[in-house]
Amino acid sequence: MSRPARPGTPRALAVSSLAVLLGACDGPQSALVAAGHEAERLVTLFWWMLGGAALIWTVVIGLAVYAVHVHPEQHPEREARLLIVGGGVVFPVVVLAALLAWGLRLMPELRTEAPADALRIEIAGERWWWRVRYVPSDGEPFELANELRLPVGRPAELVLTSPDVIHSFWVPSIAGKLDMIPGRVTRMTIEPTRRGLFRGACAEYCGGSHALMALWVSVVEPAEFDTWAAAQRQPARAIDGRGPEVFLWSGCGACHTVRGTAADGRMGPDLTHVGSRLSLAAATLPNDRDAFRRFVLDPRAIKPEAHMPAYAALGDEELDTLAEWLESLQ
Ligand code: CUA
Repeated sequence: MSRPARPGTPRALAVSSLAVLLGACDGPQSALVAAGHEAERLVTLFWWMLGGAALIWTVVIGLAVYAVHVHPEQHPEREARLLIVGGGVVFPVVVLAALLAWGLRLMPELRTEAPADALRIEIAGERWWWRVRYVPSDGEPFELANELRLPVGRPAELVLTSPDVIHSFWVPSIAGKLDMIPGRVTRMTIEPTRRGLFRGACAEYCGGSHALMALWVSVVEPAEFDTWAAAQRQPARAIDGRGPEVFLWSGCGACHTVRGTAADGRMGPDLTHVGSRLSLAAATLPNDRDAFRRFVLDPRAIKPEAHMPAYAALGDEELDTLAEWLESLQ
């Protein structure tokens, strides 16, 4: 019977490193488990390159071992020169040229124009969250933050921008990454191929909370997407009580919009349906009352350099009222 590795021993280190390496291949943020057309092509490219690299490595190391063990007199000079020219010049040129040709052939497929019926979504990289605005051709636009809902099998055109610093939009399971550059508009067309929940992240260092700038992408059936989109267009539905009063009186409405109330700020995330979102603070916190409380009380303790000021002056009761109301914004 094999015993578990004792912590700190070389075996334990090897086991935990392997677990980390293999664990990274799976999960909602893996580029190796594709859930989109673009990601599928990238996975194919990756495995071919890895296979080729492994093959070449084996041959080169094999030759090196052979050269060390064989007596020098057994090497006729002519054969040795052929081997050097063949293996050192001809072989790499052929392999690299083939890879380049194949890579170039893939590129147009990864940068296709969006079809006319594609879902159009404008995403702005903010410090440090994602402003998401759906602009469907067949309905009213609506805005949310830090998550995407996509119908499976339907292409979506992502229109990427940033107001100040460079970010990079990356949902590895669905497509490759693309920079969001101030003063420019970059576009990518994606097509999710299976349902599920996938995680994306900012892939370009953008300041203090770069590592806390993630998002969730939920790929659902088209009918479920339509229901969700219809609900998102609606104004906020919330519990009765002093919530809106505390929200407006504290000045939250200067930066946040809650459709259906007087709050119509544009600086921060639209909070109209914040209670129904998959996470808070760009996938940094769970979506619950305690997380609302903690974030309002001291945002920078959770997201360094965040623009939102701390509301440490709010009393316990006001914080509770606010957190309860925000959580109820479904
Ligand atoms: Cu945004 Cu890194």
